[in-house]
Amino acid sequence: MLFDLTEEHMAVQAAARDFAQSELLPGVIERDEQQKFPTDQIKKMGELGFLGMMVDPKYNGGGMDSIAYVLAMEEISKVDASASVVMSVNNSLVCWGLEKYGTEEQKQKYLTRLAAGEVIGAFCLSEPEAGSDATSQHTTAEDKGEYYLLNGTKNWITNGNSASVYLVMAQTHPELKHKGINAFIVDRDTPGFEVGPKENKLGIRGSDTHSLMFTDVKVPKENRIGEDGFGFKFAMSVLAGGRIGIAAQALGIASGAYELALRYAKERKAFGTEIAKHQAIQFKLADMATNIEAARLLCFQAAADKDAGRDYTKSGAMAKLFASQVAMDTAVEAVQIHGGYGYVKEYHVERLMRDAKITQIYEGTSEIQKIVISREILK
Ligand code: CAA
Repeated sequence: MLFDLTEEHMAVQAAARDFAQSELLPGVIERDEQQKFPTDQIKKMGELGFLGMMVDPKYNGGGMDSIAYVLAMEEISKVDASASVVMSVNNSLVCWGLEKYGTEEQKQKYLTRLAAGEVIGAFCLSEPEAGSDATSQHTTAEDKGEYYLLNGTKNWITNGNSASVYLVMAQTHPELKHKGINAFIVDRDTPGFEVGPKENKLGIRGSDTHSLMFTDVKVPKENRIGEDGFGFKFAMSVLAGGRIGIAAQALGIASGAYELALRYAKERKAFGTEIAKHQAIQFKLADMATNIEAARLLCFQAAADKDAGRDYTKSGAMAKLFASQVAMDTAVEAVQIHGGYGYVKEYHVERLMRDAKITQIYEGTSEIQKIVISREILK
């Protein structure tokens, strides 16, 4: 398949690149050091349409395709993967989940504000004892007739403290195992809902990752997404698309690290000449560029599958598996090319190396992607 970008794609790419350079680059090192959420920058991203890119314009979205989303995610992630994870969760998990499976009332009440970037959302599946094994939900949602009563704890929640709208998976019928799980929309100001301490992370330190506590939280019946027991399928379906966003984030981290390494290699002199003239460096740059190109094509393939209405379970998981490995490898090599300078914060590549690691862990570890891919191959 050939991917010729349209004028609109290139305009989105250029807008994301400009925004990343002018608004995200200044201060990115300090935000990482101080674990400071990019509040003002995310607000501007909402105004520019980056938080609801693929949502139908009738719900305040940008009405764009997934290729445009991949392009924008790559450009933002080259500079600030903390900002891009906020963007990815809001677009792929929260907005897409509501647009695809929500009722018209839910869309009017929540999606319109999320897509416009007036508020941001969080996706709450992981628990202290349910990470990769997502079926083992311990958070309960007791059916009380008019409402559900939620009790439990969620862990590792991106946008944990900055979100206003939370999509929460919880078990209603434990005897039915994953078929008893429901998905709910929970407003932040609901009594009994509490945001736990912020995680002190290796990377994506500008993003806010928290545990969340639910104690007798009353959720109105109309806030359930889909039929009774649809929650696990909802989560799996949403995550299948989310992987395209994280694959694009990994691609961006890789290409950001590569571009910095390339520039440095052309400027830095050692043994009488620019280090880019040494074959040891040339081979590294060639490997990096080739891997990044392959990762980009996998991202485009998954995005094109989604836009064409084809099944993207396998292509999305392949894109995430491969791109996240490329992000890790490329960032490590970018540090190596920079030598000692790569190990200090001013040169950005050490941050990209720390940020890269999470792409092999969240929205399904690399091992989970292999499970998903092999099941698709074997079925
Ligand atoms: N779409 C719709 N339904 C799906 C689906 C999909 N893509 N994938 C699976 N399902 C359905 C299956 O058809 C099955 O339904 P039936 O029982 O009716 O047949 C049901 O879901 C259960 O599927 P499995 O039997 O495959 O379930 P499993 O227990 O073997 O688990 C798994 C599969 C792939 C390991 C899954 O548990 C998984 O993806 N785990 C990882 C969870 C994860 O990614 N967590 C990340 C948290 S979110 C996050 O990180 C966001 C963030 O903050 C950045």
